[in-house]
Amino acid sequence: MESITIRTLFKKRAEGKKITMVSTYDYISAKLCDQAGIDCILVGDSLGMVFQGLDSTLPVTLEEMIYHAKAVRRGARRAFLIVDMPFMSYQVSLEEALRNCGRVMKETGASAVKLEGGEEIAELIHRLVRIGIPVVGHVGFTPQSVHALGGYRVVGKGEEAERVRRDFRTLEDAGAFMIVLESVPRELTRELSTGSKSITIGIGAGPHCDGQVLVFHDLVGLVEDIRPKFVRRYAQGANTFREALIKFKEDVEKGLFPGEEESYG
Ligand code: KIV
Repeated sequence: MESITIRTLFKKRAEGKKITMVSTYDYISAKLCDQAGIDCILVGDSLGMVFQGLDSTLPVTLEEMIYHAKAVRRGARRAFLIVDMPFMSYQVSLEEALRNCGRVMKETGASAVKLEGGEEIAELIHRLVRIGIPVVGHVGFTPQSVHALGGYRVVGKGEEAERVRRDFRTLEDAGAFMIVLESVPRELTRELSTGSKSITIGIGAGPHCDGQVLVFHDLVGLVEDIRPKFVRRYAQGANTFREALIKFKEDVEKGLFPGEEESYG
């Protein structure tokens, strides 16, 4: 199968087909996404919460993102690979941000980097695009600003809509080829997505984007304790795995595992 490129993604949009993206962090799940024909894999900094059990994405480091992205790249040979730049890896100075984004591209085999924000990252996006690094933007609820936003919530209702519009248009004009809209009211998403130069990908942003993203562990039902409104579980992963573990424990304790067929002669 041919690898997915930016051109493939724009062609898909032009043909009126929806784009699929999954956020995941390891070799096996990336391989499953590839086999399922998912267009884009995001190595999201949500790995801080989903993989590491932290309360937010803020502590995730650049080294951790690179480590996970390398594993994902080995599993995903076909999907378009995007890597999140973690908190404070691109905010200190333009020079440091360029160096860090460059590291991600050189060391992981990613095809694009993802950055959260609006006006404050516009100059960086210009520079990255000029040197040939494709950029995905992220507006609406931006998890790296969870404290400034006052917690996990919908962003863009009432007067706040204007700020989301401004952020979105700034990223579009700066050259982000794709923009993720997170937890944004669906009519605002429709307005921004319609005729946009950038491909729009939604999570909790309604059906009017060019594509949708979910976190792997949410969509296969491995996350049980938190369930945002926008998550649809396509499997009961936690139940399936727990039952398998209980059965393994029982079999070992009853002397039923390993059997003849699982033993060497
Ligand atoms: O970190 C992440 O997984 C993300 C997606 C949920 C968009 O940013």
